[in-house]
Amino acid sequence: MKTRLYVWDPLVRLFHWSLVAAFLSNAFLTRPGKEVHEWVGYAVAGLIALWLVWGLVGPRHARFADFPPAPGAAVGHLAEIAAGRRRAHAGHSPLGALMIYNLLLTMAALALTGWMQTTVSFFGVDWVEELHEALVLWAEVSVVVHVAAVVIESRRLRVNLPKSMLTGYKDFTDPQVQPQPPH
Ligand code: HEM
Ligand code: HEM
Repeated sequence: MKTRLYVWDPLVRLFHWSLVAAFLSNAFLTRPGKEVHEWVGYAVAGLIALWLVWGLVGPRHARFADFPPAPGAAVGHLAEIAAGRRRAHAGHSPLGALMIYNLLLTMAALALTGWMQTTVSFFGVDWVEELHEALVLWAEVSVVVHVAAVVIESRRLRVNLPKSMLTGYKDFTDPQVQPQPPH
């Protein structure tokens, strides 16, 4: 038995991979303090602004209302993993939702603290530079955890999640892990 659900619209997918490219460029490729670094950082801010709008008006699984930050549900999700219980998630899982808010807030804070270093008031101010650096580290750790979680959940639930972020479709291949019919 295999159920195929269309979950990620083209804008969510474009947004995701553009954010990945922009973040990785600024973390590892562009020269900090140079113009390219600043423009790529502003592109990150632009992507987040786009995402904020799409989270209000976009299709079902793109909307914030579809994945509210819910720590209780996230703890429940962890308990399910620990107990070996498996359940399909059509859109974002509760743990996934928390990670998304973390990643997006961190990216926004990176763009903000980066921009602050170009202003007269905050140019050369130590704590701003240190905060920018600490946020880079936090973002890197978060991305590693995000990708590890995507791989672990893909294997556990037999749904190729990275592929879904490319094609838009989730294929639920395990008869015991099937999404609820829409209501
Ligand atoms: C810099 C690196 C990354 C960042 C900043 C990032 C950020 C995000 C964000 C913001 C979302 C939510 C998208 C939305 O619904 O609007 C997301 C979801 C997702 N990301 Fe990433 N991501 C990164 C790397 C990756 C990589 C390398 C993969 C693949 C291996 C990946 C796979 C996914 C998947 C599968 C989802 C959907 C998860 C779900 O089913 O709930 N991400 N990511
Ligand atoms: C996703 C967004 C961003 C990422 C991942 C990022 C990453 C980095 C990294 C890795 C460094 C080097 C830190 C170190 O000294 O070890 C850095 C420094 C810096 N970044 Fe960013 N950055 C981002 C956005 C921005 C933006 C939007 C601006 C300005 C408009 C900016 C301006 C700077 C400046 C001025 C420095 C200090 C350069 C120096 O040491 O002289 N960054 N950033």
